[in-house]
Amino acid sequence: MKRVLLKGGRLIDPSTDTDERLDVLVEDGRIAAREHSVTAEDARVIDVSGLVVAPGLVDMHVHFRDPGREDEETILSGSTAAAHGGVTSVATMPNTDPSIDTRSWVEYIAGHESPINVFPIAAITMGRKGESLTEMAELARAGAVGFSDDGSPVVDANVMRRALEYASMVGRPVIAHCEDPALARDGVANEGPASTMSGLRPVPAAAEVTMVARDIVLAKATGARLHIAHVSTAGAVDLVRRAKEDGVDVTCETCPHYFSLTDNEVRTYDTNVRVNPPLRSESDVRAIREGLADGTIDVIASDHAPHSLEEKQVEFDAAPPGMIGVETLLPVALKYLVEPGHLSLGKTIELLACGPAGILGIERGTLTAGAAADVVVLDPERSWTPSREWFRSKSKNSPFIGRELRGRAVLTLVRGEVAFEHEDLAATPDEGDSGEEGDRSARQLPLHA
Ligand code: DOR
Repeated sequence: MKRVLLKGGRLIDPSTDTDERLDVLVEDGRIAAREHSVTAEDARVIDVSGLVVAPGLVDMHVHFRDPGREDEETILSGSTAAAHGGVTSVATMPNTDPSIDTRSWVEYIAGHESPINVFPIAAITMGRKGESLTEMAELARAGAVGFSDDGSPVVDANVMRRALEYASMVGRPVIAHCEDPALARDGVANEGPASTMSGLRPVPAAAEVTMVARDIVLAKATGARLHIAHVSTAGAVDLVRRAKEDGVDVTCETCPHYFSLTDNEVRTYDTNVRVNPPLRSESDVRAIREGLADGTIDVIASDHAPHSLEEKQVEFDAAPPGMIGVETLLPVALKYLVEPGHLSLGKTIELLACGPAGILGIERGTLTAGAAADVVVLDPERSWTPSREWFRSKSKNSPFIGRELRGRAVLTLVRGEVAFEHEDLAATPDEGDSGEEGDRSARQLPLHA
């Protein structure tokens, strides 16, 4: 029997409202015990005193570019990067080349070798063209956990209506990329002083807000489950808040860059801050933080969007939108939400693990006895600055390179197996349970960037 004992850590499990110092025993890939003082023979004992033990993060919005652009990311490289960031499950978006719109492609993603759990999201429409619906029942049976044309909106309201009806019949959410192309046109920066000063073509907030409104109306009419991807505007937060009060079955996510960076960033013309939807104004950022705090926003997801250096080393408006994020999801949230006191650490873990697991209907995001041992051990306090070399993603298009962040994953277990381990944690003696309490103050893992 394979056993790992995490000794002396602070267990934060929002699924059971737990925040206390508890040992966690993992046995054959499952949580076997979580108690004050666990002893176990033949276990690998890892001293996690001074560290936080939490459910492995679930990132429900990643682009792994496989099939089609394996030079930018593969399922394996993306998964390795995810484990490095404390992420134990991802849901992959179908805007690959070809797109994930047939049973065999869904099976390809779902069955792929990976150190973490990879759940495919299938396309809403064939080729993501916004015209004819995919065979949703067949794709759901093959393992699709949701449907999305992410990267592009479903412009035709009737197609969206039918998609919601069919997805609801097969018990999966529709994940909406809300962007009205008539309003967004070929804009690349948020409409406002930043776009004016930089001379970059503007995208008004209304491009997002009007389609969020449409999709909420359709969700209400069909009774289907709607999840809104990458919410970036105050207007969208407000609409989702009111729809929830109205009983509509709607959830939404935001991404780290929408609560940490403003549209002022585009004035640097750094193509790593070109993202879709674009970075928004200070007041939008404030509204996103409020939406996270009051439960309007259910999930923080990375929208990990790898792009090659060649594609990004061009003029701002010629660069493809997107930034990598699966490795910095946690440190950006700790730096910009927990450190300034907008959210507690527990609430942040809920948004990063429990919320997305619930929406995807996967049995993750919890460390109750018997649950799959998908665990992250994190150092929540230490300030550090990521370098380009620190990233394990094949692509390096992160605007957080060179910016001080806070905390990060030091150990990632997936079904009880080590998927990532910080080198100094690995040096912890492996000699069975000493029964002694770890010394919190002595715990200093050097967090090399
Ligand atoms: O910035 C973005 N990049 N937004 C999207 O919706 C798609 C994504 C990508 O696939 O690169």
